[in-house]
Amino acid sequence: MRHALILGGKRVRPFLTYSVGAICAAPEQVLDRAAAAIECIHAYSLVHDDLPAMDDDDLRRGQPTCHRAFDEATAILAGDALQTLAFELLSTPQPELRAERQLLMLQVLAYASGSRGMCGGQALDLAATNAQLSEAELEQVHVLKTGALITAAVQLAVLAGSDDAQQYYDDFTDFATWLGLAFQVQDDILDVTSSTETLGKTNGKDVAANKSTYVQLLGLKGAQAKLTQLHQKALQALHRIPYNTQLLENFAEQLLNRDY
Ligand code: IPE
Ligand code: IPE
Ligand code: MG
Ligand code: MG
Ligand code: MG
Repeated sequence: MRHALILGGKRVRPFLTYSVGAICAAPEQVLDRAAAAIECIHAYSLVHDDLPAMDDDDLRRGQPTCHRAFDEATAILAGDALQTLAFELLSTPQPELRAERQLLMLQVLAYASGSRGMCGGQALDLAATNAQLSEAELEQVHVLKTGALITAAVQLAVLAGSDDAQQYYDDFTDFATWLGLAFQVQDDILDVTSSTETLGKTNGKDVAANKSTYVQLLGLKGAQAKLTQLHQKALQALHRIPYNTQLLENFAEQLLNRDY
């Protein structure tokens, strides 16, 4: 579990939880638990994503993947236990958080992780291997497998925030949905444009495995144009929120221009 959780990673989802939480005046102790919970789910999703039954990857964050460093049974169980740890963290009673808000947060994380979120997206992703998807179908795969957890990272932070912030829940959700989709489009692009050393994971794997990606569907130039469009949509949603969201704007800029 430590191997999967604390040996690096960009911490994109916790960053979003903390920064949206700060904008929405959420108590920091509540954000600590929400950020840790979302990163536990993310780490578990990567451990299982890398298993031989799924993407069969040997390298993650510049280290051997969990099943390579240990064995498959350990990787399956570490992933399972990271998932339950997330819910243990989030369900611990917290004096700064009203019980009904905490219940909503638990529901958001469960929904985003399950069949109508990340797991559903992973199932569609596997079913789409060696297949030709329409753009609408590929968007659904990416929104679910990656967008769902990025969106949950933002929603948890809003729910931990002030009463006033709740009226912008849908705008924050839209922002995160477009950002999450754009994030996965950039992940698809980096698979072909970046190196294994820079990525910390084996490059060219999507092409080798004949995965359905934005680059496969639209070509490199088309995927890059799509990324720009999605970035604009994320910013439009952000601009509907009457708080100072400059930090999120800067973050989106950096995130979508990343090289790993
Ligand atoms: C990798 O996620 C898998 C995707 C959802 C694209 P990240 O790129 O956030 O992975 P780490 O946490 O930084 O390693
Ligand atoms: C991963 O998508 C999405 C989840 C783990 C939920 P990818 O399979 O593209 O992620 P990488 O490229 O292995 O990091
Ligand atoms: Mg995958
Ligand atoms: Mg993978
Ligand atoms: Mg990928």
